[in-house]
Amino acid sequence: MFTLQNMAVSEYTSNHTVNNLSKVAGKVAIVTGGASGIGEATARLFADHGARMVVIADIQDELGNMVAASIGANRCSYVHCDVADEDQVKHLVESTVNIYGRVDIMFSNAGVASPSDQTILDLNFNEMDSLFAVNVRGMAACLKHAARAMLEKGVKGSIVCTSSVAGSHGRPKGTDYCMSKHAVVGLMRAASVQLAARGIRVNSVSPNGTVTPLAIKASGMSEGNLKERFRKYARLEGVDLTPKHVAEAVLFLASGDSEFITGHDLKVDGGFIG
Ligand SMILES: NC(=O)c1ccc[n+]([C@@H]2O[C@H](COP(=O)([O-])OP(=O)(O)OC[C@H]3O[C@@H](n4cnc5c(N)ncnc54)[C@H](O)[C@@H]3O)[C@@H](O)[C@H]2O)c1
Repeated sequence: MFTLQNMAVSEYTSNHTVNNLSKVAGKVAIVTGGASGIGEATARLFADHGARMVVIADIQDELGNMVAASIGANRCSYVHCDVADEDQVKHLVESTVNIYGRVDIMFSNAGVASPSDQTILDLNFNEMDSLFAVNVRGMAACLKHAARAMLEKGVKGSIVCTSSVAGSHGRPKGTDYCMSKHAVVGLMRAASVQLAARGIRVNSVSPNGTVTPLAIKASGMSEGNLKERFRKYARLEGVDLTPKHVAEAVLFLASGDSEFITGHDLKVDGGFIG
């Protein structure tokens, strides 16, 4: 019978002990929406954990270039990519493979908030279509092209999507955003089933409210007031959710620490109060 006791200690440690600071050592990662907020925090964490190259893809060119430069040109680069345009996503993935040889990790994170407080009674379909173009279509394009590149190179990679607490709960407003984040979880689940036989894992993270430019813009509130409001959405006392907390969850799903986990939506919500 197999027991840990009769397994050689050296064998166990060589298989299972990962240097705590090198969880994605040597990996090539793409982070969409990496110029700001959760994406930026994750790009920095991947680089801190030994990623060979982190490619930030965003539409905020100045900011994206600044973030990449601050991480270091030898570990991070910036590519302009509007995820709503499949050709740009295809180019992002192809250029990453051409330059760095492969894609091991796709963190498909770029997203936008509802531009208005619409309920179902006044749902604006033009606004909904623009939001879906990024949050749903863009997310699907990133999964499609990352998965194709992984298959082509025989990479047993990890894909992580950003959903939200709005991906599993209703909300009083922002109907289109709520729908889009449910769709992200559906996309993740379908892709995880379809890619599992090829060794590619697909998971998502679902953060509670955290103060980022997206959240500030969507709420129209000051940073301090927004922090106060977000505290009311979590049962857990004594800690405010930050982009770094979300990045830690993404790192777990991207790394070998989660090597038997696929099709999972990891909630980073401190016990969401809906
Ligand atoms: N902040 C929150 O409270 C919260 C909670 C749950 C989920 N989320 C999700 O987290 C993700 C990241 O958001 P954030 O809060 O860090 O916001 P953020 O605004 O700081 O970052 C989002 C980034 O996505 C980029 N982006 C937007 N549209 C794009 C496009 N078409 N192509 C490429 N890049 C694009 C933006 O330029 C920005 O850099 C989003 O998917 C958001 O829905 C945020």
